[in-house]
This record gives sequence, C-alpha cells and structure tokens, in this order.
Amino acid sequence: MDALKLLTQDHRTVERLFKAYERAGDRAIKEKQRLADEVIRELSIHASIEEQFLYPTARELSDKLDSQVLEALEEHHLAKATLAELEKISPGDERFDPKMTVLMENIRHHIEEEEEDLFPKLKRLMDSADLAVLGEAMEAAKKLAPTHPHPMAPDTPPGNIVSEALAKILDSGKDLVRGTARSARRAVTARLNPARSSR
Ligand SMILES: [Fe+2]
Ligand SMILES: [Fe+2]
Repeated sequence: MDALKLLTQDHRTVERLFKAYERAGDRAIKEKQRLADEVIRELSIHASIEEQFLYPTARELSDKLDSQVLEALEEHHLAKATLAELEKISPGDERFDPKMTVLMENIRHHIEEEEEDLFPKLKRLMDSADLAVLGEAMEAAKKLAPTHPHPMAPDTPPGNIVSEALAKILDSGKDLVRGTARSARRAVTARLNPARSSR
C-alpha cells in the first residue's frame, strides 16, 4: 500500500478511538480503559514506523524538511511521555481524563500538520513506485513495532531500529505486569464497593 495512504488510515483509526473516548460517559471506567489501551497501542506503533521510515526518508529527500521533521519528533516525544504516564494510572484517577484531553489536542494538531503539509510535500518528491515500496516496508514493520511507548529510546536511525527489537521484548513483560495490576485493582474495588465493580 502507498505509504502516505497507510499512515493516513492510521490517523483515521486514532481519530475514531478519540471520538469514542469523548463519547464515553464520565463513569465508563472500563470502556475508557479499553479505548486508552487501544490509543496507546496504535500511537506507539504509528510513531515507531514514522520514525523508522517516513521521517528519515523525508530528511534524505530534502534539507528543507529538516526543521519540520525535527519538530514532529519533539511532538512524538511529548506524546510518548504522556502515553507512558497514562499507562501507570487508571481512568478512575483524576489526572487521567485531563491527560487524555491534552494528548488528543496535541495529536490532532500533529496529524493536521502531517496531512496538510508534510504528506503533500512528500507526494511531490516521491513517485508512486517509491511510495509503494516505503508502504510495504512500513506494513511489515508494523507487525514488529513496539506496542507501548518508549519516550527515552532513540527515535532516529540507526539507534531506533536496534531499540525496536529490545522494546518488543520489554513490551511483552509490560503487558503481563499491567494485566496483573489490573486484576488486582479490580479485586480491591470489588471488596470495597461491590456495586461499582460490576461496571
Ligand atoms: Fe507523526
Ligand atoms: Fe502520523
């Protein structure tokens, strides 16, 4: 698939999750957790493939894109830091919703800049065969990309490619720990307030 089409599809997926999160009621803790988990997963994978493939390609094609890509990397970095914080708290925490709101605002701004500015510029610099090759590489990399945020890991080549493999290993451990923490929390909530825990 065309690289820019693939990334734009990812953007729409994230937007759908954001809208569903905004529609979820204040007390829909379980639903918000499920949606936030999906957002964390989708954005971690998406950021990783842009950092591995799209951004280095853009810089190679034109020096004029340097500052734009560097700004995008900073936006990714801040988003990953927020995602990592969201992983540590639950939607019952008073800081959760505000963090999600700020994250959504920032990501929507970032997506708009990519779709309105960076992607059209790349479309002018690359032909459809180049975009197809890049898209195929991204599709393959999506299957191996980290599913959790790693804000302190390198985000430019060659460091980010080595760390992707390590991130994948760390992520499987994280999923295990998160699953255990969640069931423990559910057990405590059930004991303290049986009516609430059924939601
Ligand atoms: Fe991006
Ligand atoms: Fe993007």
